[in-house]
Amino acid sequence: MINNSILSSPKKTALVAMLLAASAAFAEEAAKTQETPAPEKPTVEQIVDTLTKLSGGPHAGYRANHAKGVVVQGEFVPASSAASLTKAVHMQSKPSPVVVRFSNATGVPTIPDANGNAFPKGIAIRFQLEDGTYTDIVSISTNGFPAANPEDFLGLLNAVAATGPDAVNPSPIEKFLGTHPAAMQFVQMPKLPPVSFATQPFYGVNAFKFTNASGKSQYARYSITPVKGAAFLSKEQATAAAPDYLFTDLPKRLSENVVQYTLSAQLAEPGDAINDATKVWPEDRKQVLLGTISLKQVQANGAQFEKATMFNPLNLVDGIEASEDPILLARPAAYAVSYGRRLGQ
Ligand code: HEM
Repeated sequence: MINNSILSSPKKTALVAMLLAASAAFAEEAAKTQETPAPEKPTVEQIVDTLTKLSGGPHAGYRANHAKGVVVQGEFVPASSAASLTKAVHMQSKPSPVVVRFSNATGVPTIPDANGNAFPKGIAIRFQLEDGTYTDIVSISTNGFPAANPEDFLGLLNAVAATGPDAVNPSPIEKFLGTHPAAMQFVQMPKLPPVSFATQPFYGVNAFKFTNASGKSQYARYSITPVKGAAFLSKEQATAAAPDYLFTDLPKRLSENVVQYTLSAQLAEPGDAINDATKVWPEDRKQVLLGTISLKQVQANGAQFEKATMFNPLNLVDGIEASEDPILLARPAAYAVSYGRRLGQ
């Protein structure tokens, strides 16, 4: 409560003058706010907003994309050919422990595994290094991405969000796909779900620059290939699949045997697009075998680990550098927005 005595002159006059000055400044500030529209959010934050909206979220504690996941543990053993491509510490002779998170696309934590929107599948691999640090690979089950830059990715997501059941003809998504052939190609890809995460190939999509101990640098993209071979459900099997069939299959398989993938690098040739994730390189490009990932068991505190962990394709080590692909460079900031929100929920 204000003591009346301080409202007597000359203190009163001084206080009133101060309040008037403050309110004038406030009014001026308010007028400025009205004139200047709020600055637009960064594109990556708008992408996270639209992903969240599309998933019917926010879903507290979950990722804005690739929300449904499972975490497993294993080991990476580098191949002798790996050191010819890179001096990266985990690509020399010694094995490294790995933590791997498999996921379904979208921010829907309960999306049925065989649903077309749960495509592409994701894999995030964390290599634990001897010095206590780590490096990550974050890949998907499609060879290629629907957009060459974050603005186009946002455009695609916004077009999907704007296309309701009563959309006019052509709908926003039809208009977008009509002017963005890479996105059209992506949405038209066959979306057959895998028999198991153990039969799903994954692709790095973004290129990285690999440098070996002699200083030779080459651009390459990762590929992660199931040792048992790729296998997918038929349309009929996909329709009949249980909602969590991939997530019940993996622990069962791991209780019986290891699940293995080879990790390779597809080398770019002159003229191949290094900085455009929509451009798939020809299949005959040379593949350098980097090693074998052997998965052994489900991580005990998986749900807690998922929430507390942000995989980041730019967690890199000496011998592997980012390309200038704008999609690759946008990813850490988008993941950080999603991560920050999930920690705050
Ligand atoms: C501008 C482009 C992209 C944006 C804005 C984006 C956005 C996101 C976001 C917000 C998350 C959730 C991250 C978290 O909360 O930890 C995420 C996860 C993921 N993204 Fe992307 N993404 C992009 C491109 C890609 C590409 C090119 C790939 C694969 C080559 C990819 C693969 C994944 C995977 C596998 C996850 C799940 C990671 C995990 O298990 O923690 N994304 N993405």
